[in-house]
Order: sequence, then C-alpha cells, then structure tokens
Amino acid sequence: MTLPRLGVNIDHVATLRNARGENYPSPLRAALLCQEYGADGITTHLREDRRHIRDDDINEIIENISIPLNFEMAPTDEMVNIAVNAGPNACCIVPEKREEITTEGGIDVRSNHNILVPKIEKIKKNNIRVSLFIDASMDQIKMAKEIGADIVELHTGEFCRKINYNEDASSELERIREAADFSNSIGLELHFGHGITFDSVGELSKIKEVKEFNIGHFIISESVFLGLEKSISKFRELIKIGREIQ
Ligand code: PXP
Repeated sequence: MTLPRLGVNIDHVATLRNARGENYPSPLRAALLCQEYGADGITTHLREDRRHIRDDDINEIIENISIPLNFEMAPTDEMVNIAVNAGPNACCIVPEKREEITTEGGIDVRSNHNILVPKIEKIKKNNIRVSLFIDASMDQIKMAKEIGADIVELHTGEFCRKINYNEDASSELERIREAADFSNSIGLELHFGHGITFDSVGELSKIKEVKEFNIGHFIISESVFLGLEKSISKFRELIKIGREIQ
C-alpha cells in the first residue's frame, strides 16, 4: 500500500522568528528536523510582503534538504524568477492578497488564465512541476488541466473548519471526493492542503486518489505541546489508519 506523502509547511516557524525580529527559531533547522522525523517534503510560501519566509531562507533550505521542496508562490514575474533560480521540485501557484491572514481560497484559474499561461510555461521549461491551488470545483480542475498544470492541490480549509467546530461537513467532503475523482480521471496528480488537523486528516486520507498532504499551521502549533517529531509521526499514523479503512 502506497501512502500519501506528507509535506510539512514550515512558514509559521518563520512567523515566530519574525514576531521578535530575532534569528531564531530557524526555518532551516525546522526543515532539517522535519526531514529527520519522516516528512516526505517541505513546503514554504514566499509571500510578496515576506511576512514569514524570506528569500535567504528559500536558498538555505533548498541547498540543505534532500527531500523535495514545494515552493508556494503568487503568479508574479518576481516569484517565477525566484523559483527558476532556486529550482524547487514543484511550484504551487496560489492567490495572494496582502490583507489576508492566510490563503483564503484557491486561485481562480479562469479569470487568471492569461496571467497563468506564460508563467506555467516558463516554470515547466525549467523542469519544475506545476501545481495549482484551487477550490474543489470541476470547472477549475478542467481549466487547470487545459493550461498545463501537473498537479492540483485542492483547498480543504472549509471542510477542516467545519470538523473543528463540530459542524456538518458531509457536503464539503462529498464535493472534495467528487473533485478528487475527476482530477484523477483527467490525469492530474492530487494534493490536499489548508487547515488540516488531526481530526480531519483521517477522512481525507480515505480518498484514494490523494497523493500528498501539505500541512503547516497545525503541525507547528501542535509542536508547542507535543514537539515536532510526535506531531509529524501522529499525522503519518492517522494518514495510514485512514488509508487502511477506506
Ligand atoms: N497548501 C497551500 C497551497 C497553502 O497556501 C497553505 C497555507 O499557506 C497550506 C497548504 C498549509 O495550510 P495550513 O498552514 O493551514 O496547514
């Protein structure tokens, strides 16, 4: 049985560092420890305002880790140039609004079509895989395929929020399931990301098409209580249990 990969997003280690303007905790140290503790990849989002990870962090991380780096970025020329120079394993293109607390929804592939096409072309020409972070919508998935994405990462935030607040999440889950099935049927690799916690990962890992989870805020938060190693191994265990009982 092949289990979905676990990518750990280390942005919030940088958030902590930046909150005090010190040089600790180190995102590189976090990336190396995640690797040691069984993460299959590292994810990080270089935001336009550099509110967490900075340019130097990306270079340091990529030079020192041996697992894949998934580079989250807005579709701007600046970010494409940084990605092409750094050479991550994949670029995950996300929408970005300066005032948002986190990435609130997926990118609208239809209205951003003309912005995305040349950027995807350039990234792929440099042998970097392209992932689009989108909502679980058939139209978005179809467009993602048409414009050359290799991967779609479906935004799981609303499903996870409902689970956290004990609301009925069944229709969200059904929407994600149908989108997963459709993505797989048209040859897109499927990832899930955003808001995933110990309580929501099990249901999501029952969806057999998912190849990768990208999880950040909850892992870093839970590390305050459990430590990074236990947070990562608990996620791996829950992913395995979910997959076994699908
Ligand atoms: N995937 C993408 C594309 C994201 O933008 C984020 C948040 O930055 C994540 C995964 C991780 O989400 P969270 O920090 O809520 O686990």
